Amino acid sequence: MKILVAYWTQTGNTEKIAEAIYDEIKEEKELKKLNEVDNLDGYDLAFIGFPINAFGPAAPGKKFLEKNAKGKNIALFITHAAPEDMEELQEWLARCKEPAVEANLVGFFDCQGELSEQIANILKKQEDPKLRAFGEMRDQTLGQPDASRVERARVFARETMKKFKG
Ligand SMILES: Cc1cc2nc3c(=O)[nH]c(=O)nc-3n(C[C@H](O)[C@H](O)[C@H](O)COP(=O)(O)O)c2cc1C
Repeated sequence: MKILVAYWTQTGNTEKIAEAIYDEIKEEKELKKLNEVDNLDGYDLAFIGFPINAFGPAAPGKKFLEKNAKGKNIALFITHAAPEDMEELQEWLARCKEPAVEANLVGFFDCQGELSEQIANILKKQEDPKLRAFGEMRDQTLGQPDASRVERARVFARETMKKFKG
């Protein structure tokens, strides 16, 4: 059995989660950046991760899934600046699943990730008031994903593998 963990990251949060997931996999495995993956042939299961950008999947994650997810076993992991209990978040996460609609979705994980200072400053200058509001909430995201979220990602990896192997 061969497992892939692949991710796209801009500021390292999704990478941190990818590494925790990768650590927990006992089978033959590879850890790659999404742009290093041509397709998913030869993998029994692929954990694919990316952040939310502008209320939906970051473009590289969306494009990758649209091109490669059909008919494959996929587990998604997503990071976002929004707190996990924010109401609109469920809608944004649903949008992250859409490009994988033709895949067999084996698992799904999400957690909060720190909004970098640079990104917060960019967001604060956007026209969209919702994006500006995001820029203002950087302080509430500092230090994420923290140890408890990384641990949650480890549990997710173990449980997804258990479920997948039956
Ligand atoms: C252009 C841009 C737009 C973003 N839009 C959202 C958003 O709509 N909702 C949200 O919760 N986080 C948003 N974020 C924050 C990121 O999803 C969050 O910081 C994530 O953990 C970054 O992951 P990374 O460190 O792997 O790049 C946005 C970040 C960027 C750069």
